[in-house]
Amino acid sequence: MDKKRIAVITGANSGIGKEFTFLLNQDKNVDEIWAIARDEQRLNELRDTLGAKIHTFSMDLTVRENIAFLERLLRDEDAEILYLVNSAGYAKFGDYSAVSVETSLNIIDLNACGLVAVTLVCLPYMSRGAHILNMSSQASFQPVPYQNIYSATKAFVLSYTRALNVELNDRGIRATAVCPGWMHTKLIERAKTGARKTIIKYPFIVSPDVVAKKALKDARKNKDMSIYGCAIKFSYVASKLLPHRLLMKLWLMIQGIKND
Ligand SMILES: NC(=O)c1ccc[n+]([C@@H]2O[C@H](COP(=O)([O-])OP(=O)(O)OC[C@H]3O[C@@H](n4cnc5c(N)ncnc54)[C@H](OP(=O)(O)O)[C@@H]3O)[C@@H](O)[C@H]2O)c1
Repeated sequence: MDKKRIAVITGANSGIGKEFTFLLNQDKNVDEIWAIARDEQRLNELRDTLGAKIHTFSMDLTVRENIAFLERLLRDEDAEILYLVNSAGYAKFGDYSAVSVETSLNIIDLNACGLVAVTLVCLPYMSRGAHILNMSSQASFQPVPYQNIYSATKAFVLSYTRALNVELNDRGIRATAVCPGWMHTKLIERAKTGARKTIIKYPFIVSPDVVAKKALKDARKNKDMSIYGCAIKFSYVASKLLPHRLLMKLWLMIQGIKND
């Protein structure tokens, strides 16, 4: 009997993860979607909206036991993973003292360690033609003051994904780092800390559905990066040509932050 073909999507109950879930739900090649996030109620609402193809798994991806649980589930199911979308992630805005040690490390745990762990447990079940889409960000292009840890995790995701893509060449699996600018999602509200010096401007903000559509298109074209919009493409080129010290100053000017 043919193996079941599945998509594994983390952060599936909100923002761009939810958009990927809607898009892959329409893909006839995908038999089942494994939707992962913590909030069970929002996961259930997603299943109620989209139907039986959605299988929900309420788990915190910063907890190692949950990664082991996912690994066991995949082993028992022995399905073929056509798509892995690593979208779970969060940020905190404000200067370094506005974010506790515990929260700072938890951001790294989810955005970097969780993403790597889910990727590694999924890879044995992926084969030629399969795709990994990892949520990076425009914030990966340069260091970003007042969201220093978040932007560092996104630089990690970009570098990890592009190198992994090369390593997976002989298996015919493609990895794409998705690098959007600001999107209208719950991330921004959740990132606020009440810090005096913080991020308050979100130029060129877009809705996550257009970013998800382009990302899937780019992944299917086997691109290792997906960048939506001219402004964000321009900032990528600028990050290659201009000193990052200058770009950080520009960032502070845009945010209206004086720090000298
Ligand atoms: N919004 C932007 O401006 C923007 C820009 C560039 C990149 N991104 C990236 O896009 C990705 C998705 O974010 P979003 O903007 O769509 O924000 P979002 O709406 O807040 O979605 C974040 C998702 O991550 C899940 N999540 C959070 N903590 C988790 C944990 N510990 N374990 C498992 N799941 C967890 C959330 O569900 P639960 O709370 O139920 O767990 C939610 O589904 C992130 O990686 C983010 O860095 C966002």
